[in-house]
Parts: sequence; C-alpha cells; structure tokens
Amino acid sequence: MGFGLMVVFFKGIDVPTCFTDFPPFKEGKVIQKGEKDYEVHLLSKMWVFEPTRIEIPAGSKVTIYTTSIDVLHGFEIQGKAVNLIAIPGAVTKMEVVFNKLGTYRIICNEYCGIEHYAMYGEIILAI
Ligand code: CUA
Repeated sequence: MGFGLMVVFFKGIDVPTCFTDFPPFKEGKVIQKGEKDYEVHLLSKMWVFEPTRIEIPAGSKVTIYTTSIDVLHGFEIQGKAVNLIAIPGAVTKMEVVFNKLGTYRIICNEYCGIEHYAMYGEIILAI
C-alpha cells in the first residue's frame, strides 16, 4: 500500500494534501502568517505532540505540517474530521479552518508504544 492511501478522509473545507516537499523538522512551533492565518509545525514523538497546546483566534485558517521523529503516530483532530498519519522522514500537510469557539482535542490514533493512550494535544479557539 502506498503512503498516499494512508491519508484516509476529509470533508467540508478541511483539505489534506498528503505528502509535501516540506523538509522534516525537529521542533514544533506556531507561526502567524497574517490576520487569522497561521502555520503550525506539529511534531509527533513518543508520546507527545509539540506544541502540546495551540491557542489561536476563532475563524483562523491553520496550515498544519506534521511529521514524526521516531515511530508512526496518528493525528486526529476531534470534531474536525481530520485524520492523518505522522511519518518519520516525511511531512504531510492540511489546511483547517477553525470557526467554533472552544477546545479541539488532538489525539494519536495509531498505536505507538506504551504511552500511546496518553498522547494528546489541544487547539484552543479564543475570541
Ligand atoms: Cu503516538 Cu499513538
């Protein structure tokens, strides 16, 4: 099975674009590109997402690049129908618009070792 088939589904305005030429990174960060326009470098590693907590204004468009520095991790944003896999040595990308105030939970949905169950993060939408 090709890796492209592992990017499982999307709907609505959240658009995953599978693999990119973006170079793999070793540090997670949030970069503001404009008003309500953010880029997130989301690093997966045993057993955390980095950054763990992302705070952005409601209505923001967020371009998420994700990779892993160790094993395969899942990347699911609950309530957003976004489901990717973080793969060592490759970077996947998706654009997500967050409109609803509140907290979106990021979970790892791919078994990745003993602390898999505790691997999660948060995206917090504020006014
Ligand atoms: Cu990371 Cu399961």
